[in-house]
Amino acid sequence: MDNRPIGVFDSGIGGLSAVKELKKILPGESIIYFGDTGRVPYGTRSPETIMSYAREDMEFLLKFDPKAIMVACGTVSSVALDTLKKDYPVKTVGVVKSAAKKASAVTVNGKIGVISTGATHRSGAFKKAISEISDAEVFSAAAPLFIPLVENGYIDKNNEVTRLVAKDYIYPLLEKGIDTLILGCTHFPVIKELIADIAPSVTLIDSGKEAACHLKDYLCENEMLSEKTSGESRYFVSDTAEGFSSVAEMFLGEKLVGKVEKITF
Ligand code: DGL
Repeated sequence: MDNRPIGVFDSGIGGLSAVKELKKILPGESIIYFGDTGRVPYGTRSPETIMSYAREDMEFLLKFDPKAIMVACGTVSSVALDTLKKDYPVKTVGVVKSAAKKASAVTVNGKIGVISTGATHRSGAFKKAISEISDAEVFSAAAPLFIPLVENGYIDKNNEVTRLVAKDYIYPLLEKGIDTLILGCTHFPVIKELIADIAPSVTLIDSGKEAACHLKDYLCENEMLSEKTSGESRYFVSDTAEGFSSVAEMFLGEKLVGKVEKITF
């Protein structure tokens, strides 16, 4: 048994897609969330910059003595995970491998689409992870405009602006005949309903959710679950709390008044 919290970080709102699932499947766990809202987006930046931001995110969370850290960011998972695992003495889980595994298991026709940030797309991380476990064909595309749309709360299923952008990104992948689509940036599951509406014949893989399931398995296997029946969550951001809180409340469906704190590095 281990009552220490789980640390989760992302560049902004996106990692909440993992938090939502963690709260559902591990209600006894306490969560410390960090959204680097002062520096979002990460996906347009160089691998060096992403690495240095990721180190600061890890070091902030390590102050809470977490039993594990979830890198709930496709970009950091693609570009920096191996180094973070090597350099920090804490169980660190990313979002790429578990999503690749799930997609490989559910595809019927062996054609998997991946949408992600530009940095993740350029890294080829999902393609590589899938090629290690299956011979599925992978069609990858960057979908960077989704990140500011999500950060600004354009997340309703019927939002015309987000729908237009989604069609532009997703229709070319549908034309390739994909039957499975990995939402390879954790911001994207926030608009999963909208994407499902545009691509109804495709199975969507939520990278945050798959990573949460993977972490649960790890904690169970290693007898590291919390003994509590109800965990506590704290949220930290690197810019104003208000914008984050209102979108996070919409997505998580819970009030965050007084739970979001702004930090400075
Ligand atoms: N949510 C992140 C990801 O999964 C980062 C998006 C961004 O900041 O560009 O890639």
